[in-house]
Amino acid sequence: MANRFPLLFSDDDYKQWRNKKINRASQLLDNEITNLFVDIPKPDILSPQEKQRILNYCQQDNYCLYRLTNSRTDTKNNIRLMAKQLGLVNLDTNLCADTDSLTSITMTTHKGQHDYIPYSNKKLSWHTDGYYNSFSKQVHSILLHCAQPAKEGGESYLLDHEIAYILLRDENPDYIRALTKQDAMTIPANILNGKVIRPAQTGPVFSLNSNGGIHMRYSARKRNIEWKQNNPTLEAVAFLENILNSDNQFVIKYKFKAGEGIICKNILHRRTSFVDFDDPTKKRLLYRGRYFDQILSN
Ligand SMILES: [Fe+2]
Repeated sequence: MANRFPLLFSDDDYKQWRNKKINRASQLLDNEITNLFVDIPKPDILSPQEKQRILNYCQQDNYCLYRLTNSRTDTKNNIRLMAKQLGLVNLDTNLCADTDSLTSITMTTHKGQHDYIPYSNKKLSWHTDGYYNSFSKQVHSILLHCAQPAKEGGESYLLDHEIAYILLRDENPDYIRALTKQDAMTIPANILNGKVIRPAQTGPVFSLNSNGGIHMRYSARKRNIEWKQNNPTLEAVAFLENILNSDNQFVIKYKFKAGEGIICKNILHRRTSFVDFDDPTKKRLLYRGRYFDQILSN
């Protein structure tokens, strides 16, 4: 859907869009979270109704929670095929990704995963995926599927990044002006053994994507981002941190069970630390897809 929100600084457009988003998000909060899941009997062949429900959630809320109703369908390939039916095909495969398929995220120490927290049992702070990518290779959609949950912990925290935008803008529109600047943030180069794996990237936090929605690049890890050193930027970042670290009502906290997952437009997310089962066959296992594609419009 084009031009959903074409102008970052048009007050009238903003108010209308903002009220709709906040009303909708508030309505969702009145539900038990388990009632928000879309049940999927066959992920490789979505019914038109299931597909529509997923797209509706993604359109309105930027995320959709789903659960497989038959554990026999819970395979990595079926999850990949489900994503394909939603327009998600082109994966951003990173250093640790399996070739041409979803990435298995589990505790591991093998070569190439030298300091990647996602593959440890440590907490993972707030971020959007691929925030360090060049601007032409932004991650617009993510799929996270829980094949096996941790014994303890490993809870996901989720916040629609457009709600974060609203909270910032309602506090002070200058925060948005600062965070949409092309030099708002710089991600330092990734250097491994003296070799530049990824050059430094400078860009905005908020931008508009090709569908007229808001795209966000963010990491709460201090060492991951050098912020532009001026007052509006630093105040905006501090305000955002405060939202994310407080018990904001719009933050969803949920520990995915086996067969459950989320399809989203790269919303803000984090996970808590976890304790795994000793049995190697019961280790926490997630499948993740990071896509350059936008989720289909409904
Ligand atoms: Fe992530």
